[in-house]
Amino acid sequence: MRDDLVLSVRDLSVTVHSDDGPAKILDHVNLELRRGEIMGVAGESGCGKSTLIRSILGILPHGAHSVTGEIQFCGENLLSMPQRRLEREIRGAAIGFIPQDPYLALNPVFTVGDQLLEILRWHGMPGESSDRRYTRSVRARHRERIIELLDAVQVPDARNALDRYPHEFSGGQRQRLLIAGAIACQPQIILADEPTTALDVTTQLQILKLLKELAARFDVSMLLVTHDFGVIGQLSDRVTIMYAGQTAEYGPTGEIINDPRHPYTQMLIRCHPDRSDELIGIPGQVPVPVSPPSGCRFHPRCPAALDICSAARPPLLYGEADRQAVACVLYSEIVS
Ligand SMILES: Nc1ncnc2c1ncn2[C@@H]1O[C@H](COP(=O)(O)OP(=O)(O)OP(=O)(O)O)[C@@H](O)[C@H]1O
Ligand SMILES: [Mg+2]
Repeated sequence: MRDDLVLSVRDLSVTVHSDDGPAKILDHVNLELRRGEIMGVAGESGCGKSTLIRSILGILPHGAHSVTGEIQFCGENLLSMPQRRLEREIRGAAIGFIPQDPYLALNPVFTVGDQLLEILRWHGMPGESSDRRYTRSVRARHRERIIELLDAVQVPDARNALDRYPHEFSGGQRQRLLIAGAIACQPQIILADEPTTALDVTTQLQILKLLKELAARFDVSMLLVTHDFGVIGQLSDRVTIMYAGQTAEYGPTGEIINDPRHPYTQMLIRCHPDRSDELIGIPGQVPVPVSPPSGCRFHPRCPAALDICSAARPPLLYGEADRQAVACVLYSEIVS
């Protein structure tokens, strides 16, 4: 894996057993996350964004019977890492996770302090030996660390917040608590799956601003799943567009938003309310993974489809090194 990368997903495919037969939810997905960057991940509902995030965390969908490819993180393939190490060292520790709904993610019957302390108890504080005993002084040290984290995510009156229950916090404050949990163990990556969709617009903005500040302050890379191209434009350095479990296109945010190449990306961006006064949609629907169209999965909905599009799956075509990559035959001339 290149030195500037913190995560490299190569040809990741995930197939599950469903009632209607095998369903390939992810099909040769490729993604590279560089150190310190925020990568937006967009695509319609059902395109596999959450499955990708969960696969990186080692939480495979129910019924998953075939997982192939590689998820390289710090020189190791997470797909072949023993479950125990994944749970102790990676999931929620070296790779932090921020869920979509802060109302559901906290347990209502435990205090905020107990829930955040549990993270440090399970994974250990950065620099702590893994065979430590959980003594009073360790717990006191963990408490101080949690208070620092709550200050960092701007939860008011951090010291007293520890003894309060989740219902005493607003949605935005709860999301701050979850962000504190995600950064508690000094992760190298944060995976955020639509972290603001459950919040009102002003609170969304505050949380997104906080995420951007924290990513820079703690030098964390971030994969940010969102449907909102406004958010992508403001926060992310690069974007990956997924369609029906495949990577359709990726590249620097400015290029993808101002000069999208894949017809799917073009239509997806045109649907964004900021881009048009009319309500525009993409005709048709994302295919179900159990019976995807042959060739390019987008071809039945694509206004630019050619005969060849139904015959073979287009490979990801790379333009200039490190810039846009697109899986569409219309761009076969950009192969380097
Ligand atoms: N365990 C499973 N068994 C069968 N199909 C599944 C399973 N988990 C997910 N899927 C299917 O995989 C596809 C991708 O789902 P996923 O939740 O990853 O999409 P998404 O892009 O995150 O969508 P959204 O934007 O709505 O959150 C969907 O068609 C979904 O129904
Ligand atoms: Mg999702």
